[in-house]
Amino acid sequence: MIYRSLLRPILFRLPPETIHELALHSLRFFLGSQTARKFITRRTTLSPFGRLERFGLTFANPVGLAAGFDKNGTTAQALAALGFGFIEVGSVTSHPQPGNPRPRLFRLPRDRALINRAGFNNCGAAQLAENIRRHRPECLLGVNIGKSRHIAIEDAIPDYLESFAAVYDIADYIAINVSSPNTPKLRELQRPEMLAELLKSLQQRNDELARRSSRQQRKPLLLKIAPDLSESEIESIVEVATRLQIAGLIATNTTVSRADLQTSPAEVGAYGEGGLSGAPLRHRSNEVIALIHRLTRGGLPIIGVGGVFTAEDAWGKICAGASLIQLYTGFIYEGPGVARRINEGLAEILKREGFGSLDEAVGCRVK
Ligand SMILES: Cc1cc2nc3c(=O)[nH]c(=O)nc-3n(C[C@H](O)[C@H](O)[C@H](O)COP(=O)(O)O)c2cc1C
Repeated sequence: MIYRSLLRPILFRLPPETIHELALHSLRFFLGSQTARKFITRRTTLSPFGRLERFGLTFANPVGLAAGFDKNGTTAQALAALGFGFIEVGSVTSHPQPGNPRPRLFRLPRDRALINRAGFNNCGAAQLAENIRRHRPECLLGVNIGKSRHIAIEDAIPDYLESFAAVYDIADYIAINVSSPNTPKLRELQRPEMLAELLKSLQQRNDELARRSSRQQRKPLLLKIAPDLSESEIESIVEVATRLQIAGLIATNTTVSRADLQTSPAEVGAYGEGGLSGAPLRHRSNEVIALIHRLTRGGLPIIGVGGVFTAEDAWGKICAGASLIQLYTGFIYEGPGVARRINEGLAEILKREGFGSLDEAVGCRVK
């Protein structure tokens, strides 16, 4: 409440990326010590869902922070104290890179949305691994990997493999990002032939690294997809993902669509290219989730992401077939208490709707 009524109006007067950097610094400063984190965690973490088993991992709650907020893994430890069940850091690439020129992040408050063309600004996969080793979060950690900008799409596989190996030891799961609109040609990797080749190589490396480690088990490999795909394209992706034993799909990344916005076309046009996130993405993201759930008959775990601000929004995704949810834009608009509020609200909704557990509710509205 204090965030929305007092803090947000002040913060939203400043450039979005400046606030983003300030937020990361503040979180590390205020939640840098274990005592501070314990204090906050005790007050905010409620886990009414019991144990949530997903692709071999046990989640304390179903609400995660989506990729892109903590690209370098410097702040995951502090963020975990805000009540997230999991944090996805990245996207990282094998080579450190500066991303696109600024400004590259824009707010659309009337639409409760953001447009970004960050372009994978990050410190590189090896440095991210180092950052996490120093400050490991007390929740599950996903690492999202993308393609280095200067590497041609034809040479993407070795580039992904390098990142994969660099983050292997520190990740609980690894998400393959082939869906960002801000790296030229990246989304071509969603085509079935290229995707199959990429995922096959990654799973081979996964097996090799598992044999070498004490775990002896593959790391769960997830695939993050775009909302701007046709039904038949999604069908092909699901077929490839299932064949290559992908542990789950993350649906969805940002959209290149600018349909049905309240913000004036002139203003939207002035921001230029980039991915749109937040409330306008919610409906399409839910459609994609429901389609995957239907195609797989609920057999492939889905992390639902796109336009989650409240417990009702999270519930919409669970009913569509997501068994975990993530948010980014909702965190910016709703503030640091958002994960706690969604978890509390979800527990109430489950009770209201007469479900004994979250698992019973997954996909309940998919025909
Ligand atoms: C500023 C910004 C940066 C992002 N960076 C990444 C990224 O590096 N990798 C990725 O997979 N998704 C990235 N995303 C997409 C989010 O993870 C998420 O899929 C998308 O924003 C939809 O969720 P939301 O409506 O809750 O924001 C980014 C989103 C925003 C707003």
